[in-house]
Amino acid sequence: MKQKISRFFNKKSIFLFCLIITAHLSAQTITIPVTTENSMLLLQTDSNNRLMNVYFGKPLENENEFATVSAGYNYDYSNQGIYNSAYTPSGTWNLSEPAIQVKHADGNTSLELKYVSHKIEKIDANSSTTSIVLKDPIYPFEVTLFYRVWVKENVIEQWTEIIHKEKKAVLLQKYASANLFFGGKEFYLTSFQGEYLKEMQPVETKLVQGIRSLDTKLGTRAMLTQSPNFMVSFGKPASENEGSVMLGQLAWSSNFKLEFEIDSNKNLRLIAGINPFASEYSLAPNEIFKTPSLIYALSNHGTGEASRNLHDWARKYRLLDGQGERLTLLNNWEATYFDFDENKLKDLFKDAKDLGVDLFLLDDGWFGNKYPRNNDVAGLGDWQENKKKLPSGIGYLVKEAKKEGVKFGIWIEPEMVNPKSELYEKHLDWVIRQPERPEIYYRNQLVLDLSNPEVQDFVFGIVDNLFVKNPELAFIKWDCNATIYNAYSAYLNKKGLPQSNLYVDYTRGLYKVLQRIRAKYPKVPMMLCSGGGGRGEYELLKYFTEFWPTDDTEPLERIFVQWDYSYFFPSIATCNHVTDWGKQPLKFRVDVASMGKLGFDIVASKLNPDDKIFCKQAISNYNSFKDIVWHGDMFRLVNPHENNIAALMYVNPTKTKAVVFNYLVNNRFNITATERPVVLNGLNPNKKYTVKEINLYPGATSTIASGKVYSGDFLMKAGINPNVSLKRTSVVLEITEEQ
Ligand code: DGJ
Repeated sequence: MKQKISRFFNKKSIFLFCLIITAHLSAQTITIPVTTENSMLLLQTDSNNRLMNVYFGKPLENENEFATVSAGYNYDYSNQGIYNSAYTPSGTWNLSEPAIQVKHADGNTSLELKYVSHKIEKIDANSSTTSIVLKDPIYPFEVTLFYRVWVKENVIEQWTEIIHKEKKAVLLQKYASANLFFGGKEFYLTSFQGEYLKEMQPVETKLVQGIRSLDTKLGTRAMLTQSPNFMVSFGKPASENEGSVMLGQLAWSSNFKLEFEIDSNKNLRLIAGINPFASEYSLAPNEIFKTPSLIYALSNHGTGEASRNLHDWARKYRLLDGQGERLTLLNNWEATYFDFDENKLKDLFKDAKDLGVDLFLLDDGWFGNKYPRNNDVAGLGDWQENKKKLPSGIGYLVKEAKKEGVKFGIWIEPEMVNPKSELYEKHLDWVIRQPERPEIYYRNQLVLDLSNPEVQDFVFGIVDNLFVKNPELAFIKWDCNATIYNAYSAYLNKKGLPQSNLYVDYTRGLYKVLQRIRAKYPKVPMMLCSGGGGRGEYELLKYFTEFWPTDDTEPLERIFVQWDYSYFFPSIATCNHVTDWGKQPLKFRVDVASMGKLGFDIVASKLNPDDKIFCKQAISNYNSFKDIVWHGDMFRLVNPHENNIAALMYVNPTKTKAVVFNYLVNNRFNITATERPVVLNGLNPNKKYTVKEINLYPGATSTIASGKVYSGDFLMKAGINPNVSLKRTSVVLEITEEQ
């Protein structure tokens, strides 16, 4: 953007002005478009050869006009430097919030970044990566900005690589993944805060002047209090079917910081990356520091379209086996907690078979001998079968489950240790703890130091041993229940590396282990669990097929939390289990859990006969529509945050089949029947459809006329009333094209 020239010329400023003009005349302006089907970011060099964000909006059609867009702005930047830098350095001209801050090998803290070159690499017909090299003119210090686009899905992934050739290590004090700039006047940010059992609580606020930061410092289980997912709506609050929105996520499994700044010209700056808190990173010469990615979907038609695009993107390009199948399961956690033995488990295998699920999942409590894992205070870290509970070992259980006709999966929490364990006794130096201070526990446990390659080998070995000994093991649930207190690594100390490398090196260590696991076991399904809600972002989901959004399985709460996760994740990625939590009838619980990857965590043998019949029927129904829930388009129809009911539907790609879920979410009023129809979406207006209520409880009759034919046009304009009421709190409708 043009610099406005000060009216107060003194000799010095006239001189500076001449320099600027000279630079302007000599430097060639470079304009770099980063374009998807419905959006465009334009980056441009200024007269000083610094790279600026000059446009964000709908794609401009004429390339010959790209360079002129910045001429329309007259901002006075005399106070703070330039707000719209594409990667704002510090210690030189810039006095606003930086994207990068460094201490050079010689102790100097200044950084300037100038454009050097860029290239666009085409990956396939739908995807390309633009990389732009920026260099300091004085120090051998280089930053490359990467923008990978998926044109059709309107998704952009942005990251940065930092390298230098100084004589000694450079201290990176801040090193953002992305630095974006949005011109405009009004911005609405939805952030998602949480705590245990209350994860992912949305709050939308209008951004006002100053910086709003969202961050976490928990180290592991990092998303527990603050999600790295966010929504920005441009010009007005976010809505489902219209308006320009951005759905974003910092894909990093540890401390992050997202800064939303309304600058003094009322524009929005967004700086996103690893949290600089306690994380000055020592970067050796010639070592590349690759930041995590900021991933965002853009839409000019509301959050619904942005989510569907993000879901498509995730399934095709990110989530492990995103286009594949998933296993329904019976988990024993809430059925037995730590109290089980072989016979009890064998009964549960029978229950799993009887219900009709694919797999039995053995949860916490199967290991530890010197310190048996009979509760959560002991045994974590000692990954040998407990001889008393499981004298015949895991292999026997895998075989017994197979005999019953179900697969077998197992829970691990490999990054953690109880102080009451043999592992702790043998390898105190593997534990993250301050040697001179009293230990602080989260759920009676501590975190192992994954910056240490020996610990990485140990964690890899836990998984590898399980698979080597039990090749038919079909599923892993990988838990992570503690945060990092007393952050200190004996390993980094031994290596002479700064302690402030720990959070980054831990996280990279975790990714290294997962890469090794996936190199050897590419597709075995693994559930990412972190006490519920503590982990689940698109870097870890490269290695996991699904995640556990929260331990809160109370189904009313669950409707809200699943709704809020659905902005960012396809339903195939979210595990929903039916448990005994809350007061809702079984039908309600099963219907809610069917909007994702269905599982059960109940004592099925104790179900009354009608509940049992219902469950079996519902699982069989789920098997008939799960493909639509997993791979179809999702439409949020009625928002439970604003209404007495929630409604959400999934449609298959050919628009021949859909399933609509409707729930009563408010018992304050004496609701006899939903007043208004629910207006459907995503169907073909020209097709004819029949509507049928499914998942009816034994003996119940539907109030929906069966066999009646509607046009897609009617269903998407006038809608259909699911007749949700206090007597019909949960209604599932199957929509099928009339042949
Ligand atoms: C926390 C998880 O969220 C639960 O599902 C269960 O696996 C427990 N950990 C086991 O300790």
